[in-house]
Amino acid sequence: EMAEKQGYEHFMLKEINEQPESLKWLLQDRLQAGKLDLSESGLKSDWLSDYDKIHVVACGTAYHSGYLAKYLLEDMLKLPVEVEVASEYRYRNPLVNDKTLMIVVSQSGETADTLAALRLAKSKGADVLALVNGRDSSIARESDMVLYLNAGLEIAVASTKAYTNMVAAFYMLAVDGMRQRADIDAETVKKYTNDLIRLPELSRQMIKQSEEKIKEIARSYAEQKHIFFIGRNTDYTLALEGALKLKEISYIHAEAYPAGELKHGTLALVEEGVPVVALGSRTDIFNKLFSNLKEVKARGADTFLITMEGQNYEKESVDHVFELPQLNQYFAGLLAIIPLQLLAYYTALVCGKDIDQPRNLAKSVTVE
Ligand code: G6P
Repeated sequence: EMAEKQGYEHFMLKEINEQPESLKWLLQDRLQAGKLDLSESGLKSDWLSDYDKIHVVACGTAYHSGYLAKYLLEDMLKLPVEVEVASEYRYRNPLVNDKTLMIVVSQSGETADTLAALRLAKSKGADVLALVNGRDSSIARESDMVLYLNAGLEIAVASTKAYTNMVAAFYMLAVDGMRQRADIDAETVKKYTNDLIRLPELSRQMIKQSEEKIKEIARSYAEQKHIFFIGRNTDYTLALEGALKLKEISYIHAEAYPAGELKHGTLALVEEGVPVVALGSRTDIFNKLFSNLKEVKARGADTFLITMEGQNYEKESVDHVFELPQLNQYFAGLLAIIPLQLLAYYTALVCGKDIDQPRNLAKSVTVE
């Protein structure tokens, strides 16, 4: 087993460090001469006009990638997008027809609820596109189109590199859809495509830059009972994923909140020393997020801000900061998740927990 870990203490840390490589695996086959080509998945070159809405359905971490994609796809494709966990979706009567693109997302390709949701949407006439890592899995087999995530084998129960590739796969889909819009020029598409190409290298920089700083923060987080994550828009979905990672493996109670909702409940729990991680990769609404950060700071919170390099803010409200390299705000989330993965990992390490095999959890949930 040590050999498989390639010198890393845990599979999770190995898989976090593999992200630059696995992003490359995802992108390389789908880029031809600097242009995206998703035809291998079965998507037509003009798929966008076939649909009047998109449903994204998944479980766990895969669901969080879909939640991020909802913001992205609606904004970049101008199509309504609904996102839901599969266990809920399958037991209501979702409005689906042959103009619906159903996107199911799954690392294993075997999650029972996701498979059931896929079958339901298909029986109502939807075209099903799977973003899936497991080759020849049930979800891959039963879908009409498959965009393989190419993340390689993921062993740690807490998903890292598969999540990153799910998000990147949604970015590819968004750019490919944007290319089909009459009101978008080729220059804009080129700009986003070039940003996609930069992701592997930028993620490598992020891992290098985050480790020492995150280890230090993790030491103080390990003693906490509650940790809160806040964000708006795509940053809120990163907050959900950051909180899930942390609670899964450290067993510390972590809760994500849309930053603007804090004052409707969670603020009551913020007292002296409670850590609040504020995700601020969205430049358009940074000031709104920052005013929420100041609200928690005023109540004694220990604040950790993740934001874009060059962003202006009042330094005295921030206890720890991590700056992301300049990238468009749609794609910066993929980089912002890296310090959160490392934060979960190092906090669990200080807590002495079984990182790769957290209690009560399984890598793949194949029964309901
Ligand atoms: C389990 C795993 C999670 C995963 C979820 C969905 O809960 O522990 O890491 O996100 O299932 O799995 P899938 O294979 O469908 O992505």
